[in-house]
Amino acid sequence: ADPGPLQDFCVADLSSPLLVNGFPCRKPETVTSNDFFFDGLQKRGRVFNPLNVNLTEVDVFAFPALNTLGVSMNRVEFLPEGENPPHTHPRASELSLVTEGKLFVGWVSTQYILYWKVLTAGEVFVIPPGLVHFQRNVGEGNAVFYAFFNSQNPGISKIAPTLFYSTPLIPDQVLTTAFNVNQTIIDLIKSGASVLL
Ligand code: GLV
Ligand code: MN
Repeated sequence: ADPGPLQDFCVADLSSPLLVNGFPCRKPETVTSNDFFFDGLQKRGRVFNPLNVNLTEVDVFAFPALNTLGVSMNRVEFLPEGENPPHTHPRASELSLVTEGKLFVGWVSTQYILYWKVLTAGEVFVIPPGLVHFQRNVGEGNAVFYAFFNSQNPGISKIAPTLFYSTPLIPDQVLTTAFNVNQTIIDLIKSGASVLL
């Protein structure tokens, strides 16, 4: 969760060279109604990654008016068998609202319990902050959900590329020990990891 605002609004000046926690504000007299408006979700997604998922982020980078307001959202579209792979948001809880199709949504607690549900249109699941979660299209057709976050910049940390596709790479010995497998398995996973980012 983000800290609370100290003024009505603080539309981000994304081009400012100043580095602060969040972004500096544009001068209020230059801000108009249009700054509080975002129409980037009107078109449905066309570009699907190899996991058959398309993510449209409506965070402070896409919508600078969110700066200091502590909220943001994503739209996630799935082709059949599409998957939003296991990931965490280091700075936010997530509310997931399905609007189309049939989605398996799950997250794992720090006690290694999987909490899950198969959701259809109009149904909501909540994901606690920082915990690993995923969604998979388990219906016949496409699926869509909207994620709402209590941060202007929830961040996404995907588990597979974090472990197998970092720069530089994590040493193999760390991974063979962590997963209790031999080098062949690590090589195999690394060889497929480039499509996962
Ligand atoms: C879904 O989990 C998302 O982060 O958009
Ligand atoms: Mn998420």
